[in-house]
Amino acid sequence: MGYRQHLVRSLLAIQADGGVELSDGRRVGIRPVLVGRNAEKLAEIAKRHEIAEWTTDLDAALADPRIDIYFDSQLTSARVPAVKKAIAAGKNIYAEKPIAETSEEARDLIALAEEAGVKNGVVHDKLYLPGLRKLRRLIDSGFFGRILSVRGEFGYWVFEGDWIPSQRPSWNYRSEDGGGIVSDMFPHWNYVLEGLFGQVRSVYAQAVTHIDERVDEQGKPYTATADDAAYAVFELEGGVIAQLNSSWDVRVHRNELVEFQVDGTLGSAVVGLFGAEIQPRTATPRPTWNPDVKDDHDYLADWHQVPETTPMGNGFRAQWEDFIRHVLDDGPHPYDFRSGARGVRLAELALRSSAGGKRIEVPAE
Ligand SMILES: NC(=O)c1ccc[n+]([C@@H]2O[C@H](COP(=O)([O-])OP(=O)(O)OC[C@H]3O[C@@H](n4cnc5c(N)ncnc54)[C@H](O)[C@@H]3O)[C@@H](O)[C@H]2O)c1
Repeated sequence: MGYRQHLVRSLLAIQADGGVELSDGRRVGIRPVLVGRNAEKLAEIAKRHEIAEWTTDLDAALADPRIDIYFDSQLTSARVPAVKKAIAAGKNIYAEKPIAETSEEARDLIALAEEAGVKNGVVHDKLYLPGLRKLRRLIDSGFFGRILSVRGEFGYWVFEGDWIPSQRPSWNYRSEDGGGIVSDMFPHWNYVLEGLFGQVRSVYAQAVTHIDERVDEQGKPYTATADDAAYAVFELEGGVIAQLNSSWDVRVHRNELVEFQVDGTLGSAVVGLFGAEIQPRTATPRPTWNPDVKDDHDYLADWHQVPETTPMGNGFRAQWEDFIRHVLDDGPHPYDFRSGARGVRLAELALRSSAGGKRIEVPAE
């Protein structure tokens, strides 16, 4: 994420296009300083992209008064100590999700950041995806009437690593290293649900480890201790029911790796990362259930594509531009540590629900 989405697709792409435009028309450039553990790798990336500065010394980088923003995309378990250092150094903070591994740590970060008066943000990339932006427009236009329910399918087959190398880092499958699909995906689900439909009021989840042995990057078998699938039902404010399946053990039989179906009294939509299809009330077919007669109706043909009417670029980049405007220009950016912390809390409550086999109320903040 740090290299591909944030450095190459966001920061370097913004820089190549002349920086970020502020409200007064000024454009500001970005001067990245790469920080990591491996000098050789950093030097290689810096050379490849003509980046002047890199260091393996985070403290030294944070002591540089020219730096405005500390961005963190380390593996999750390394995030909190580094973010705390950056707050202490007075930097504005932007960080990958989840912002912390526990609600307690997340609350700590909120208190520290607010006390230090630094701007803070957490990656909420899914809301910037073209498909979800089209959904936002459909909601704002009143297309759905009263929204009744949301069904989401996220996932794909992540190879175990024995005969085909796994396509995700192995730490994701070890709970002792901060892995687990609930802690990974529920922070996303929280901001997607509250950003589009309403705050989550309750959660029932069943988290499971379907595949308990995998093979790591070095070809060594390891015990997969983290949950790799979660089946959850959420009740949202206003009564919308959302049902989201998240799985790294599912073979894809849909158009995109994530899809949400939203059903409302006046219409329905199915959106993915990019696409959006709709079916209004006035063009809804009238199926009847008859197991004796083969039904040749093409139900998928009853849906209409929502066209791309305005260009929608990379979501990570779009959020970076918003965050930079927020830091320099006080532009709106509601996706702060508080929002990130609600995501961490939802993941915790979902795991509690799963452990106890119970529906759990999500208290108002
Ligand atoms: N927004 C999204 O859609 C999205 C998607 C995937 C991952 N993420 C988040 O991004 C973060 C990174 O995930 P990733 O998939 O890029 O993982 P990754 O393993 O590819 O990258 C993690 C980086 O941290 C470094 N690292 C490993 N151990 C470290 C340690 N002990 N101290 C410091 N650095 C260490 C690794 O060398 C690597 O460069 C995670 O917090 C994850 O939740 C977000």
